[in-house]
Amino acid sequence: MGYNLKRYGSWGLVTGASSGIGLEFARALAAEGLSVALVARRRDRLETLAGELRDKFGVETLVIEQDLSLPDAARSVAGRLESVEVGLLVLNAGFGIAGDFIEQDPERLARMISVNCTSTALLARLILPGMVERRQGAVVLVSSVLGFLPAPWSSAYCATKAFDLMLGESLWPELKPHGIDVLNLCPAMTRTEFHQVTGGPDSSRTRKAEPEDIVHLALKGLGRSLTVFPADGAAASVLTRLLPRKWTAGLAGRVMRMRKRSRDGQGS
Ligand SMILES: NC(=O)c1ccc[n+]([C@@H]2O[C@H](COP(=O)([O-])OP(=O)(O)OC[C@H]3O[C@@H](n4cnc5c(N)ncnc54)[C@H](OP(=O)(O)O)[C@@H]3O)[C@@H](O)[C@H]2O)c1
Repeated sequence: MGYNLKRYGSWGLVTGASSGIGLEFARALAAEGLSVALVARRRDRLETLAGELRDKFGVETLVIEQDLSLPDAARSVAGRLESVEVGLLVLNAGFGIAGDFIEQDPERLARMISVNCTSTALLARLILPGMVERRQGAVVLVSSVLGFLPAPWSSAYCATKAFDLMLGESLWPELKPHGIDVLNLCPAMTRTEFHQVTGGPDSSRTRKAEPEDIVHLALKGLGRSLTVFPADGAAASVLTRLLPRKWTAGLAGRVMRMRKRSRDGQGS
């Protein structure tokens, strides 16, 4: 669709390609003629997608079944790339946990931090040196508008997304002299499986963006912008940078409490 992604090389790698935003990234990269390495746990879905991309776009595919919450997951993925030179790295895999922090399952919390933060940072660490050596490449880090905001009842998830955002925004100037583009994508509510996986209050009636549009926003901004977010995230990103942090946290608490009450009211 005219994003000129081949300037980064001939292969892309997308984590979390079995569903939602990652799946649409994989389709968009292949449509641009990039061969794609697809990473997630659900091999059947990755194989189906790989077949679709080969048939429709004539690109090569590599399916990497990997649970990114496991220790050494990033090394295992990097080890399976063999002769594949990744030019465009999309670090998208992630999930959330909603509800009272003190009631969240500690094991699940640890897995979320491993997927959203540890594997994301380590994959960047392991794959970037090749790009730097070739002086060609790009990284997209999928954060969230919650990376800007304190989010009561999504506190640890929001902290993982702030990690991703700070990692990406810090890498941007560090990698620029090496010819590497970095883009931070901060989606707001998007129509994917994320909400079922995360749990929490019913969001079925909340307006959501389509994952294709979120991917378009990212690929359009790649090489031009530092951080992109949909229009409904713009106010949050500006306000949180202007207001004292205590005000933002208090405001976030009030908004979330009001939403919770109105949802509980609808349900009764
Ligand atoms: N949807 C939203 O409203 C929204 C808003 C802001 C930010 N985001 C961010 O967008 C990114 C993509 O989420 P999505 O909305 O597309 O949700 P999704 O449809 O649930 O997709 C999540 C992807 O992450 C993969 N994943 C989850 N746990 C994994 C693990 N342990 N190992 C390997 N892969 C794992 C899943 O693959 P398997 O289950 O097959 O492993 C799936 O491909 C996430 O980082 C999320 O934080 C989403």
